[in-house]
Amino acid sequence: MDRIVVLSGAGLSAESGLGTFRDMGGIWTRYDLSEVATPEGFAADPAKVHDFYNARRANMAGAAPNAAHDALARLSGRADVTLVTQNIDDLLERAGASGVIHMHGELSRALCHACRARWDAPASMAPGDPCPACAAPATRPDVVWFGEVPYHMERIEAALADADLFVSIGTSGQVYPAAGFVEMARLSGARTLELNLEASGGRFDEVREGPATEVVPTWVAGLIGDASA
Ligand code: NAD
Ligand code: APR
Repeated sequence: MDRIVVLSGAGLSAESGLGTFRDMGGIWTRYDLSEVATPEGFAADPAKVHDFYNARRANMAGAAPNAAHDALARLSGRADVTLVTQNIDDLLERAGASGVIHMHGELSRALCHACRARWDAPASMAPGDPCPACAAPATRPDVVWFGEVPYHMERIEAALADADLFVSIGTSGQVYPAAGFVEMARLSGARTLELNLEASGGRFDEVREGPATEVVPTWVAGLIGDASA
């Protein structure tokens, strides 16, 4: 099988009830990202940032993986497939996927910005929570904010350089460096495919429009057969 890199965005989890960011009613139409998704916002008002992520963590706990997560989980674990996501939810893991690369971090994890320790986040975090490793009151959600460097970029760039096929699922392609992956894949000679509710406008060889719960399982079944049949 081809060496495949799959990038997913908020559209993958939309039908599980988790909000997207820039669609109608999206998260960034209801919150000012500079206040809740930047280091400056966290420094200015850590309680507001923790409240924002505590609410999203509660939404995530109440959500369930959808058919698109289930389909990608059937692909995961294969040596020739690299699953990269911009999403900070755990729905791919709850669908059974393993080895998912969360380039924007994970809502289910916490980080100490004093000693860089990471651990499973509690349901609710608050300013001054002590780090379980160094006791410093320096804990935050393990989420990459605007202006910060995304995680695992070397692994992602190596996979893109080696890819035969790049598939973008449910992302508007507005935020770099993820927005540049399609071009990096093309320069490596990969074919490029977008699966999205509507074309994002990025330069793809092929676009299949439709809800992720329809277009993703159909694509995966075409690739490896329909395990759900
Ligand atoms: P960027 O400039 O690459 O992206 C900013 C994008 O966000 C813009 O293109 C615009 O589409 C959108 N945007 C900016 N202000 C907005 C607003 N007020 N309302 C709605 N949309 C708005 O971002 P950057 O500052 O260069 O940071 C990029 C880095 O941050 C990357 O490493 C990225 O992975 C990371 N990041 C993480 C998160 C997260 O929530 N985990 C969010 C954004 C970016
Ligand atoms: N099925 C497939 N795609 C969908 C669906 C659906 N049911 N619903 C929405 N979409 C698509 C939209 O067409 C859009 O292209 O999901 C995309 C959502 O785009 P954004 O809201 O911009 O989310 P995303 O691309 O993931 O944002 C990237 O920006 O704010 C940061 O860190 C945040 O990781 C996020 C990054």
